[in-house]
Amino acid sequence: MPEDRTEQPHIVTCTAPVNIAVIKYWGKRNEDIILPINSSLSVTLHQDQLKTTTTVATSRSFQEDRIWLNGKEEDITHPRLQSCLREIRRLARKRRNDGDSGVDSASLSHKVHICSVNNFPTAAGLASSAAGFACLVYSLARVFGVEGELSGIARQGSGSACRSMYGGFVQWIMGNKEDGKDSLAQQVEPETHWPELRILVLVASAERKPVGSTSGMQTSVKTSCLLKHRAESVVPGRMVEMTEAIRKKDFAAFAELTMKDSNQFHATCLDTYPPIFYLNHVSQQIISLVHRYNKHYGETRVAYTFDAGPNAVIFTLQQHVPEFVHMVQYFFPPETNGADFIKGLPVNCASLSEELKQGIGLEPMPKGINYIISTKAGPGPRVVEDPTQHLLLSDGFPK
Ligand code: DP6
Repeated sequence: MPEDRTEQPHIVTCTAPVNIAVIKYWGKRNEDIILPINSSLSVTLHQDQLKTTTTVATSRSFQEDRIWLNGKEEDITHPRLQSCLREIRRLARKRRNDGDSGVDSASLSHKVHICSVNNFPTAAGLASSAAGFACLVYSLARVFGVEGELSGIARQGSGSACRSMYGGFVQWIMGNKEDGKDSLAQQVEPETHWPELRILVLVASAERKPVGSTSGMQTSVKTSCLLKHRAESVVPGRMVEMTEAIRKKDFAAFAELTMKDSNQFHATCLDTYPPIFYLNHVSQQIISLVHRYNKHYGETRVAYTFDAGPNAVIFTLQQHVPEFVHMVQYFFPPETNGADFIKGLPVNCASLSEELKQGIGLEPMPKGINYIISTKAGPGPRVVEDPTQHLLLSDGFPK
């Protein structure tokens, strides 16, 4: 391909989703290229509610690689950003040398400008690094004209990011090679597989998490023998059971495994020395509420899972959403009872019977939850075709 001599940047914009693990990743066997000590499995959340948007521009007039995140210029020399940039350029060069005519040789020698925003608060602890790195890698690949398997590169930005490269239900197979070539994400079922499944993100606090996942899991690997036991003897069986529950759309099995795995992950945090606490009194109240609700009906209708922060992610079936949301609203009375409390997919009205409220038997905890985002499983990263959506102007600088 002849070199493009024009000064006009080549601009691409993409979006990528957040994912929530139902079998948790916690612990690395290689810190540099991010190889995990166990496989994990997640559900990709719908981008209509939660997504990262990234614009990448390349131009021969750019002096250096630069990045702007949520309106602020950040340090491009961050090792994980550098890993992703290096690996994408390496892959593009390899493809070009193998004769792939799709690779844009001109832009390969150019510097990049990257601009990225989330449509949700970064500090809310909603796995923004997963969507962020997935979007970065997907957009860089598009700008250089690289297609195909990219989860191995996204993994080197943030482990959980590899699972955001696919929609629906996704597993990250830990692999066993030293070079990590077999540590990749794979779709288990597409987002259309289980249309009744609904996801509610209960945002308990918009504060930053006290211990980040990267350093938290480092200490866990060093000090927790429960984590070692979990990785070696518990997760392999759970991966098989979880895949089976999803394939059969067996909600009770899916829900029980999800809750048990979240609880075990937090148990390994407590087994870490010094211990790490991600759950707070609001999280504990949500756990009680879910178990009491399920017990009241004598069946597992709702499940919770928590990552490295106090926000709960709830799984349930469509038919139970209105009642459960109203339960949350009743037991965590918000500051304003307005529509602002529920964002995302609309939730129908429901009334709570006195019998149900009595049966749950919990003291309401005012203002414990800021708001709920109602969503479902969704697709993987996408290219945004509309050029008015670019986050960089035609000169390659942020709007
Ligand atoms: C609790 O992917 O954020 O959300 O690989 O160090 O970037 P790094 O960690 P990260 O860890 C996510 C941990 C988790 C569980 C999960 O998503 O599987």
